[in-house]
Amino acid sequence: MKVTQATFLMSNSDYQKCPHPDKPEYAFIGRSNVGKSSLINSVVNRKDLAKTSQTPGKTQLINHFIINQNWYLVDLPGYGYAKVSKVERAKFEKMIHDYLTLRPNLICTFVLVDVRHEPQKIDIDFMERLGENGIPFYIIFTKADKLSKTAVDQNVAIYTQKMLEHWEEMPQYFITSSVSGTGRDEILSTIDSLNAGFKP
Ligand code: GTP
Ligand code: MG
Repeated sequence: MKVTQATFLMSNSDYQKCPHPDKPEYAFIGRSNVGKSSLINSVVNRKDLAKTSQTPGKTQLINHFIINQNWYLVDLPGYGYAKVSKVERAKFEKMIHDYLTLRPNLICTFVLVDVRHEPQKIDIDFMERLGENGIPFYIIFTKADKLSKTAVDQNVAIYTQKMLEHWEEMPQYFITSSVSGTGRDEILSTIDSLNAGFKP
């Protein structure tokens, strides 16, 4: 799929105020600073469509982008950001949980994990909850440009081992870099096939 149009639509904190659910939708989620907003820009080939930052906690709302007038891409706030108060965190968690479980046109989520790190409990638990709620997901390994190919493969193998302690098989995954554009075509072609099966 070629991205010919990518437009920011709206930000909000309530899934009920999101755009009319008549188009297939995909959400990027993961720990704060893992690279969600950067990868959205890379996938749609726009520099500053989604706001990025070196400081964790940049994205604070549910952000909708419309791509090719045909599907929605959603940038969500990261989880696991230590500097947020308990009350604030509970508010974020409810916002994300409600969105993920109640948004009718959400086809699947992409859970981003930093390929440099070993498996983190917070991500494993998050995927477990997606499973419990019947929300399909793919794994996206980010920042692959920061490691050698060998190190990337090693870390993916370690991750796979860990996932197999919880799942019968390793979910489909993508290895990506927002800097080099690695993985973007694979993500787009997966979305393209999923779009074909969408019925409003
Ligand atoms: P929050 O909105 O705070 O949850 O963060 P986020 O997950 O949206 O991360 P964001 O895209 O803002 O990126 C965080 C930092 O990582 C920024 O400094 C990015 O430039 C950097 N970054 C993101 N993706 C990549 C990548 O693929 N390679 C490299 N080298 N840096 C990246
Ligand atoms: Mg962000």
